[in-house]
Amino acid sequence: MREDGFAVIPRFKAEAEIASLRRRAEAIVQHFDDSDASVFSTRDQAARSDEYFLASGDKVRCFFEEEAFDAIGRLRQPKALSINKIGHAMHDLDPEFERFSHGDDLHAVACEAGLTDPKVYQSMYIFKQPGIGGEVDWHQDGAFFFTDPPTVTTFWFALEDAGQTNGCLWVHRGGHRTPLRRRFVVRGGAARMLTLSGMPWPAFDERDVLPLEVERGTLVVFQGLLPHCSAPNRSPISRHAYTLHAVDGRARYSSENWLQRTAAFPARGFLL
Ligand code: FE2
Repeated sequence: MREDGFAVIPRFKAEAEIASLRRRAEAIVQHFDDSDASVFSTRDQAARSDEYFLASGDKVRCFFEEEAFDAIGRLRQPKALSINKIGHAMHDLDPEFERFSHGDDLHAVACEAGLTDPKVYQSMYIFKQPGIGGEVDWHQDGAFFFTDPPTVTTFWFALEDAGQTNGCLWVHRGGHRTPLRRRFVVRGGAARMLTLSGMPWPAFDERDVLPLEVERGTLVVFQGLLPHCSAPNRSPISRHAYTLHAVDGRARYSSENWLQRTAAFPARGFLL
């Protein structure tokens, strides 16, 4: 982890846990009223970060794939196959997700990753739908969870086998030692992406750019400065994953981060 910026832990979650989480995600989508939904795009995040997204930090909301709709705004495929993700507080609001997101084993991994007082700010269930699963460009998660010093750590659970054909994660090994390029801030109610460093990507040594082809149940943990991306999913097989983002409670959490918690609804650790 210290050397590469990430660690891959196979068989971290059991089949039964994965199956219940998937069933629960399906139910959330089924009950989702799509009349006020927003398309989620990381390509044009600032422009599309409307009220629906910015107000979702303490809620359970569904977001559509960018390619879900045809030219006249009709869904190209059934709703269940059109959702990009569910976010962003299932780990605190939904008992099934809460169970999956907590435990001694996760706390131990967080400590190993360097978090002394982990606080889990965000959960996302990512569908990476067959055929239309959107690309996620190179980025660092530290852009979204700015702390001083940088502490955000990502916990990425494969809920299905992830390979190059269905859009697995790609990482820049050792890239956690490069600076934070961009930062997503909210100022005066408006969101925008700031450029902090002109360091390009992926101007990496090719040998350090790796696809993380993993089996379901695998946990990938990575540091907030590690550049990562994923290709679109043009295959007929989905690539469900679940992520948690935790910061160290001892670091200063920026008041300009889009996701803010309040004393009434604080971010908690991995131990309940
Ligand atoms: Fe990310």
